[in-house]
Amino acid sequence: MMRRLGATGVGITPVGLGCMQFSGSGLVERFYRALDQSTVTSVVGAALDGGITWFDTAEMYGRGRSERALTTALREREVVAGSVTIATKWAPAGRTAASIGRTLDARVASLQGYPIDLHQIHMPYGSLSPVSRQLVEMARLARAGRVGAVGVSNFSARQMEKANALLGSEGVPLASNQVQISLLHRTVERNGVLDTARRLGITLIAYSPLRSGVLTGVFHADPARVRSLPWVRRTMTGLGARGLARTAPLIDELGAIGRAYGVSAAQVALSWLIRFYGETVVVIPGASKPQQAKESAAAMQLDLTDRELARLDDVSRRCGG
Ligand SMILES: NC(=O)c1ccc[n+]([C@@H]2O[C@H](COP(=O)([O-])OP(=O)(O)OC[C@H]3O[C@@H](n4cnc5c(N)ncnc54)[C@H](OP(=O)(O)O)[C@@H]3O)[C@@H](O)[C@H]2O)c1
Repeated sequence: MMRRLGATGVGITPVGLGCMQFSGSGLVERFYRALDQSTVTSVVGAALDGGITWFDTAEMYGRGRSERALTTALREREVVAGSVTIATKWAPAGRTAASIGRTLDARVASLQGYPIDLHQIHMPYGSLSPVSRQLVEMARLARAGRVGAVGVSNFSARQMEKANALLGSEGVPLASNQVQISLLHRTVERNGVLDTARRLGITLIAYSPLRSGVLTGVFHADPARVRSLPWVRRTMTGLGARGLARTAPLIDELGAIGRAYGVSAAQVALSWLIRFYGETVVVIPGASKPQQAKESAAAMQLDLTDRELARLDDVSRRCGG
């Protein structure tokens, strides 16, 4: 069941927990409402109980608040540092490559003694230094043992290929590229990212694997719920009346398969992602309730048949995926 993180020796479960939901107040609140620490601790606990072994956070998620909330939860659950895998990200906006090293102590402080197993460049733009310099700095930190592995996020196929070659010349493999992938967002199949990742042995970490909740079907079942969402989330994820109508056949199919197994549409959507693309794709669904994290973890046990995988492939294409 475990997957290898790129060409590193790090083993991860095919489902990790996305921790953007733990950002507290700030920019992310335009997407997800702030959670109190006891809720965060319950969500993290449900993920651990369900067998999830790794967590994705970032400096940008509340300027360290997500990192701190996650590790506070791990402490409260008495999880020994080093026994779970933690991925975080450096925020490039307005900074030079040297800030990766300079901000590492702040990351370590926010993570409260839990090591950085994977450090990622959050996006390939916004920095005052070229990406090549950022990668050299990341490689230096990896060689010094300050971060376990190096990854990138939102990189194109060409950017990934260049990053892999440059890091390789520094003696460090490019472990992963974190990009958006779901049954409603399959751009990686068309833009070369999936093929390149497969060829180079790089793991794709799928973010927004539930299309920010659309694939759970809760909004199709009760469209009035959309009105209660923050405006940015409502408008950016296809939750308007036309969007919901377009994706309804896919939600119906996920629901029908789910009912046959006694699981939710969300679990079917996650199971499809970690199986359809083979070993290359792992997922990091976010959760704001323990039950959601429990369901996400249980998706690892759901084995869809080849026929079901193909059927969802087909319906998703027809719904714009
Ligand atoms: N690298 C990047 O640029 C980038 C960008 C975006 C996200 N990410 C990462 O990817 C992670 C996941 O992405 P995401 O949060 O955007 O989207 P997502 O995982 O597709 O959706 C998460 C949301 O879906 C709903 N949900 C989850 N499980 C559910 C279930 N079983 N039943 C009903 N609803 C359920 C919850 O919404 P409610 O909270 O409304 O209940 C939850 O907050 C983030 O936490 C973050 O770590 C990275």
